Amino acid sequence: MSTTEELAQIAAEVNVCTACKLHRGTIKAVPGEGPATAKIMFIGEAPGFNEDRQGRPFVGASGQFLSELLALAGLRRQDVFIANVVKHRPPNNRDPEPDEIAACGLFLERQIKVIDPRVIVTLGRFSMAKWFPNERITRIHGQPRWVGERLIVPMMHPAAALHQPQNRPLLEADFQRLPDILAQAEREYAKRAAAASPPVAAAPSTPDEPELEQLSMF
Ligand code: URA
Repeated sequence: MSTTEELAQIAAEVNVCTACKLHRGTIKAVPGEGPATAKIMFIGEAPGFNEDRQGRPFVGASGQFLSELLALAGLRRQDVFIANVVKHRPPNNRDPEPDEIAACGLFLERQIKVIDPRVIVTLGRFSMAKWFPNERITRIHGQPRWVGERLIVPMMHPAAALHQPQNRPLLEADFQRLPDILAQAEREYAKRAAAASPPVAAAPSTPDEPELEQLSMF
């Protein structure tokens, strides 16, 4: 199965998932979207009103703003993978609960494994908590940290800037640093790949080489 087919398989499972109570009363599941080859993945919190209707992530006001932020980073939506911590809309947009996050976490893990992105940007505290459960977003936003072979970049949720406009410049500045962060991740990845590949074996010596002749004297 190709990675694109694997992502489609995960989406098909999400679409019929009843593993937690969130699916009740929703219109569509929102598995996430983007190419399997994406180098960067964005993980939000949960689908809202518009996402529930369309079955696509970040298509409402937060999504419009996310597209603007992506443009600031020189990225287009079709170049990145966009997912959420939970894939059905919580009633009245309430916070997702631990059992719901755990149930959906299996899908998210599989998506990350298939896409294998160099960089993961967490949007908001729920996706940040997957990697940095004891941190505060106000303290660490925009600061990339290595977790295994990936750079995880916690960022504020776009909705935070829509509700509190003073957050907007912070979020914009964080997104503007993404090209450098991606380049840093690519460099490190190339370095690790080079270190992991065995050195080219030296050609076997032939008996008439001077070095061997000298050795035979002893
Ligand atoms: N907010 C999110 O966290 N995800 C969406 O898909 C839409 C809004």
